[in-house]
Parts: sequence; structure tokens; C-alpha cells
Amino acid sequence: MTELVRVEIHDGVMSITLNRPDKMNALNLAMYQALADAFIQADQDPVVRAILLTGSDTCFTSGNDVSDFLERDAMQGNNPVQQFMFALFEARKPVIAAVTGPAIGIGTTLLLHCDLVYVSRDAKLQMPFVRLGVCPEFGSSKILTRRLGATRAAQLLLLGEMFSGEQAAAWSLANECLGNAQATLEKARESAKQFANLPPQAVIDSKALMKGPDREALREVILKESELFAKRLKSPEAVEALNAFLERRTPDFSKC
Ligand code: COA
Repeated sequence: MTELVRVEIHDGVMSITLNRPDKMNALNLAMYQALADAFIQADQDPVVRAILLTGSDTCFTSGNDVSDFLERDAMQGNNPVQQFMFALFEARKPVIAAVTGPAIGIGTTLLLHCDLVYVSRDAKLQMPFVRLGVCPEFGSSKILTRRLGATRAAQLLLLGEMFSGEQAAAWSLANECLGNAQATLEKARESAKQFANLPPQAVIDSKALMKGPDREALREVILKESELFAKRLKSPEAVEALNAFLERRTPDFSKC
């Protein structure tokens, strides 16, 4: 397992910590694989009653590693990104996220699949997929439209506007916005620990009921989004946007 994702089990809680501070916890393929493996392990280990996902005090994650996006075929087929998405999507046990600082791209879309989400006031959430020349992922085109309505979903997905921890809580994308990183992590840990004292199968059965009705339709959406995302990554628009990020310049789409 890569050092860039730390996994520990204490008091019935598996804590998964993103640990790539020099790249703002950008997720590379090894990290996605480690995340997928951890979620599968949590599912199988009866000791684990809940999963707590965190970044560092100053950053949740800056999303997919932009350099990986430019690698040929990195996102084709059943790649580690898709394995992670489906491991989280299929997690039977409760998943709790603590978000501090930036949560970009998949850093925001993964939250749509967590059961409890706590954000700090300094959280900066964004789904800049269209700005990067790609398209929404991980069911976000369906989930956000349904949860927030078409107009706000367009603001977040088509314009790719950044939003704050307070807005995330006001829009029910998070349970609560807390004052700072430490309070956020403590609250998330406290909630995760509560599951250790609840009847485990009742929790699992109830989560399955809550997720049940939409499951198959959502799976189809995720696969369709992934297919288009992989195709769009090769488009001149995406190549220009991703290179512009790495070269620290403003992208120019006038010739795409
Ligand atoms: N992939 C690869 N490297 C990334 C990255 C990413 N998603 N996000 C940040 N980094 C790297 C930067 O290139 C920089 O590396 P360097 O020091 O070797 O030049 C380092 O992490 C620090 O990032 P920087 O942009 O200088 O930090 P910041 O505090 O000014 O901004 C963010 C933080 C998260 C707002 C900004 O980095 C960002 O917008 N990242 C890209 C997000 C993105 O588009 N993700 C893909 C979504 S699909």
C-alpha cells in the first residue's frame, strides 16, 4: 500500500487519510488503488463499523492528479479511478468525510456518496470539469441536479463555480460546517465512533434501504459519465486546459 494513503483501524473505525501534502493531496493512480483496497477491506472486516475519510488540516484533496489525466489511456476501462468509485459506491458500512481546505473535482463528487459529511469554514469545494474540457463524473450530473435543482447544478457543474463550507452545509451537501480543521475532524471522528456502539447489521441494512431505489440507474450514469470523461480527456479542449494548469497559464480555447 502506498504511503500516500494512510489506513488505520481503531475503536471500530477505519481512518483513511490522504497524505500527499506537496501536491495538495492530488490523487494519483496508486492512491486510487489504495483507496479502493481500503474500502474493500473495510467491507470485509467485521471489526470495522465505519470508515472515516480525511485529508490534512489544510487540504482535503485537489482532485485527480492533472498529470495522470494527460497519460495515454490512464482512464480507460476498469482503471483504479473506477475501482475506487465503485468501492465507495458499494460500501455497505457508513462513510464519514471530514473536509478542510480545498476539495476539488473528485474531492467534491466523492462527498455525494458519503453518508455523513463535515466541512470546515475554510473548505473550498469545486467541480471544475467543464473548465478542464471534460464532463461531470461519479454520478454528479444526476445527483446534483436532483438534490439542488437544475439551476444551481448548472452553476456548480457547467460554470464550475467554487463554493464554501458554509454554502455546502446550507445546501445540505454537508451535515455541518465547523469553525476550523480540528473541530471538523473531531466532529467527524465522534460521529464515526457512534457507529461502533450501534447494532452493525441494522446500520448496514438501513443504509442499503436508503441507497436502494436509485442504485442501478445511478450505476448506469456513472459508467456513461466515465466513458464520456475518458473520451473528452483526449479532446483538444482538455489537452489545452490541463497543460495550461501545469504551465500555470490561462487556457486559450479560441482555436479548439
Ligand atoms: N494535480 C497535480 N498537481 C497538483 C494538483 C493536481 N490536481 N493540484 C495541485 N497540484 C500541485 C501544483 O502543481 C503544485 O505543485 P508544484 O509545487 O510542484 O508546482 C502544488 O500541488 C501546490 O499547488 P498550488 O496550485 O501551488 O497550490 P494553491 O494553494 O495555490 O492552490 C488548489 C490549491 C487546490 C486550489 C490548486 O492547486 C488547484 O486548483 N489544483 C487543481 C485542481 C484541479 O483542477 N483538479 C482536477 C479536478 S478534475
